[in-house]
Amino acid sequence: MTQVLFICLGNICRSPAAETIFRDKVIAGGLGDHFTVDSCGTSSLHEGEEADLRMKKHAQDRGYKITSRSRGFRGLPDFENFDYIVTMDDKNHGDILDWPNVPEPMKSKVYKFATFCEGNQTTEVKDPYYGGPKDFEETLDLLEKGCDNLLRYILCQKDPDFLISR
Ligand code: 4NP
Repeated sequence: MTQVLFICLGNICRSPAAETIFRDKVIAGGLGDHFTVDSCGTSSLHEGEEADLRMKKHAQDRGYKITSRSRGFRGLPDFENFDYIVTMDDKNHGDILDWPNVPEPMKSKVYKFATFCEGNQTTEVKDPYYGGPKDFEETLDLLEKGCDNLLRYILCQKDPDFLISR
């Protein structure tokens, strides 16, 4: 089983969308039994809330149904439970790397989502919360592209022949 955790600030816009998109791609690839996918926020400000209605709507227009509820990052237990911890922006990334009481070697599990958005000239998936429809669409464009590449990256790490075999 491979466990993937997406992280943003509030866990109501970017990371729930990433979770849903990534899970859909995993299922579409027939790999649903091999992955656990979750998301959370570095802040617990929106704990228990559904995803932002605007993100739900824009995602739904692309065929994704976001059903997750916001939760805060749990620190060490999340580091222990997940294999890939994928952050959306520089602030989330720094906050997770600086999380207290986490053994240094575990931090190699932390990846920046934008690393997987090649060709998009971006180093972050910026927060669309204070933006408009265009910002939500651009966020989803990045998430779709990055989730494809992240899945390929993980599958290549598991089986280096993966790319050659398809
Ligand atoms: P997210 O977006 O980190 O992508 O879920 C945000 C959601 C809420 C807030 C900021 C960003 N907020 O300030 O409440």
